[in-house]
Amino acid sequence: MKLLVIFASQRLGGENKKIEAAMKSAEGNFEFDFVHLADNNIHSCMACMGCAETGRCVLPSTPDDKFQEIFDKMLLSDAIFIISPVYAGIPSRLTALFERMISILFFSGRINTDNNPLLGKKAAIFSYASCGICDETPIKLIFDKFVMKNYQFDCSTYEYLNNAENPKAVYKDITEYVLDTLKSLK
Ligand SMILES: Cc1cc2nc3c(=O)[nH]c(=O)nc-3n(C[C@H](O)[C@H](O)[C@H](O)COP(=O)(O)O)c2cc1C
Repeated sequence: MKLLVIFASQRLGGENKKIEAAMKSAEGNFEFDFVHLADNNIHSCMACMGCAETGRCVLPSTPDDKFQEIFDKMLLSDAIFIISPVYAGIPSRLTALFERMISILFFSGRINTDNNPLLGKKAAIFSYASCGICDETPIKLIFDKFVMKNYQFDCSTYEYLNNAENPKAVYKDITEYVLDTLKSLK
């Protein structure tokens, strides 16, 4: 199973490094692709709506703009894990990734249709900070748009791989939460 893991931290090392190491040692037949946004810049959308014609962003894929490369990986993976620390809300590169995705899918008319290439994709989303596991619902609310039809703005209704109502009460830390979710994919 091809598993794309997007770490939204702006720095290499720290908590994301521990989570990655634990995932690598987990049992299961996984082909991991770990993407650290700290290593992968993504420019913001220019709101040119050029993607309405082609379904592709007009900005070229360059070493300084990895949007298309990461988006293509999302399309090809069997499951996507997004693991995000709390900085000032959602880290800016993850925000840019979402902004470019919504532009491409919305302006090309694929959101809310059966043509949405991410429709039904297996997905898990995690949020953590110094204070421990955080509520991932705000990020899920955004991502719902990409993986389901008839999404709602007020509550997340997609069946994510991780669904603990109060994960902080169940797991000792974010790594344990991620590993337990990984087990459900075995
Ligand atoms: C700019 C910035 C803002 C942060 N804001 C918060 C916060 O509001 N609450 C919190 O508990 N931790 C906050 N943190 C701490 C990070 O969430 C924490 O260090 C986390 O482990 C970072 O993930 P990483 O080690 O994978 O980079 C902040 C860190 C930075 C750099």
